[in-house]
Amino acid sequence: MMSAEVANKLPKDFIWGFATASFQIEGSTNVDGRGKSIWDDFSKQPKKTLDGRDGDVATDSYRLWKEDIALLAHYGVKSYRFSLSWSRIIPLGGRNDPVNPKGIAFYSNLIDALLEHGIIPFVTLYHWDLPQALHDRYGGWLNKDEIVQDYVHYAKVCFQAFGDRVKHWLTVNEPWCVSILGYGRGVFAPGRSSDRERSPEGDSSTEPWIVGHSVILSHAHAVRLYREEFKAVQGGQIGITLNGDWAMPYDDSPQNVEAAQHALDVDPIYLGHYPEYMKQMLQERLPEFTPEELKVVKGSSDFYGMNTYTTHLCSGDDEFQGFVEYTFIRPDGTQLGTQAHCAWLQDYPEGFRDLLNYIWKLGRCADLDFSVTENGFAVKDESSKPIEEALQDNDRVNYFKGNTASIKAAVLEDGVDVRAYFPWSFLDNFEWADGYITRFGVTYVDYETQQRYPKESAKFLVKWFGDNVDAG
Ligand code: NOJ
Repeated sequence: MMSAEVANKLPKDFIWGFATASFQIEGSTNVDGRGKSIWDDFSKQPKKTLDGRDGDVATDSYRLWKEDIALLAHYGVKSYRFSLSWSRIIPLGGRNDPVNPKGIAFYSNLIDALLEHGIIPFVTLYHWDLPQALHDRYGGWLNKDEIVQDYVHYAKVCFQAFGDRVKHWLTVNEPWCVSILGYGRGVFAPGRSSDRERSPEGDSSTEPWIVGHSVILSHAHAVRLYREEFKAVQGGQIGITLNGDWAMPYDDSPQNVEAAQHALDVDPIYLGHYPEYMKQMLQERLPEFTPEELKVVKGSSDFYGMNTYTTHLCSGDDEFQGFVEYTFIRPDGTQLGTQAHCAWLQDYPEGFRDLLNYIWKLGRCADLDFSVTENGFAVKDESSKPIEEALQDNDRVNYFKGNTASIKAAVLEDGVDVRAYFPWSFLDNFEWADGYITRFGVTYVDYETQQRYPKESAKFLVKWFGDNVDAG
């Protein structure tokens, strides 16, 4: 029988760890045969990042990886989520292009070292750094037929090289950002948009949906390949990770209730088709899956991987057509929670618990593992503070206090079977269009010296998981 003490803890196989992504931390962009990614040149163009800085050095983790693993081990994490750089592994990206042995060796050594420290590798294949050569050659994600084949080939190279040791694969990180931010708003690489001030080329009315379609199919075909050729022997699991925040109606008017519901609708991987409102809203601009494609797409995830950061209040106009407006300000003028450095994020742990319950009750992941693959907070003005002050990251500590309590309550009181939780991020790092100004790390990085300093939030999380996961 379980003792009351154990029943009050997360189960002993609950996985927790920190997350990063290749372009955000590695730097060393032109060494050991790495090819360029779409973020290399994009981040160097004027006004693409808030501080005008690029990813050439980042947190220098390509050179400092041993120190980084030592720090992860010091924190006592059970797992580390990181991504592979496609252009380090296949510098020109394509299925007929050479594989770079130095790229393979780098990740192979990293994986070995993690395992030596008893840290489980959770590996993302694609976290936004498409090889530039594929974009130049045929338009990258805009060309479904080519990119699906090249992505699946890249995935195969990775399964062959690392799959004996990697048992947790994520195909793509946040497809919404790839398509909407890269090809709709044009604020992420490759920076395509109909807004001619932002980008000289692109068509925001069609490209995001073409790209989204290619991403979903690439993911699905890679999963099929893994299941057919690797899973039986390697015994791992594979899935995708989606960004999803909790959505509450701004008030109880029917159109706002409907708007919040639309903001929560899930995608074809779990539904088996695009949500109805998307079809209605986009009409012929939304590509259709052929019946053959749908068979590959539906059910193409062994687990529900979710990146989630915040809660929004949603509204739609009287003749609601699917367009949702988001705010953090309640009808009475009060804020939902503590404001982060970036405008899109406020702390609201109740929403996190509701979201966990909602996804669970949808039943779409009832027979799937359910993992929170990212969750984190950027403290306001952290970059302008002296280091000693930045290390006292109280707003981030509060955020994690609230969200760890929500996870615990969801698992132990509500019966939601969440298996893993990855705070974002292990280190402060290159925050895409924000450059280095917005810091999400639980570890402070002094970019002058590349010294790492644990913040209070790291200490809080290490202690919290030590106290709240059954040690077995
Ligand atoms: C989600 C992305 O996956 C990650 O790369 C990014 O840094 C965080 N959100 C914070 O914006």
